[in-house]
Amino acid sequence: MATDNTLLLDAKDLGKRYERGGRPFWALRHASLEVAAGDFVTILGRSGSGKSTLLNILVGLLPPTEGGVTLCGRALAGLTDAESSELRNARVGYVPQTAGLIPTLTIEENVRLPWYLAGSRGPEPEGRAKQLLADVGLADLTLQYPNALSGGELRRAAVARALMCSPALIVADEPTSNLDPASARSVVEIFGKLTREGGAVLMVTHDAFSLESSTRIYDMAEGTLTGRVAP
Ligand SMILES: Nc1ncnc2c1ncn2[C@@H]1O[C@H](COP(=O)(O)OP(=O)(O)O)[C@@H](O)[C@H]1O
Ligand SMILES: [Mg+2]
Repeated sequence: MATDNTLLLDAKDLGKRYERGGRPFWALRHASLEVAAGDFVTILGRSGSGKSTLLNILVGLLPPTEGGVTLCGRALAGLTDAESSELRNARVGYVPQTAGLIPTLTIEENVRLPWYLAGSRGPEPEGRAKQLLADVGLADLTLQYPNALSGGELRRAAVARALMCSPALIVADEPTSNLDPASARSVVEIFGKLTREGGAVLMVTHDAFSLESSTRIYDMAEGTLTGRVAP
């Protein structure tokens, strides 16, 4: 059992209601989830089942209609936008479903950016961004701009960016989509290594092979999150 000090994410009874055609529509219902150091949690589910809505709420980018999230010991509901942004950049590595790189910065500058957004934390570790880009197979593309990269390369750059601040927790929305099998495996291996070193990973994916690295698996269907019973 996880003790409180290793609990990185604690989400209770989350619900998200959208309006569609003037009618309320629940994209997420009564979702609860805990992620502790060492966990590799995988969420599977069809397109439109509410996975991105859940992840966006967990990292503080979207307010829930119901329920609450405690991220790295901080209740998100009590934070200003600036505080939640700093927490997200400093402690959490978020890989959004769309890579979201800034077009006017090079790939390496994009990867380095979270270090500066995370607030003053001393000099940037020498060569870290280059090393992370090499780890995801993009050593030759560091000086390129995002529009010169393929969809899969952009996703790998987003993974490197998420690792920049040595996060306690990675939250990744389909980080292996558009990747060739070897690159997809290397991303899952990087995440697995992080969990063995005391970090944690929460990932949405369609790739069955990543289940081998998972310590817990959930299915998402029509906004409802259900934990799989261990075989
Ligand atoms: N801003 C929004 N307004 C209304 N409906 C939305 C909004 N964002 C997402 N949805 C709907 O909520 C459901 C869940 O979306 P999403 O969380 O993106 O699913 P997934 O990531 O599993 O594909 C979908 O039916 C989607 O159309
Ligand atoms: Mg999605």
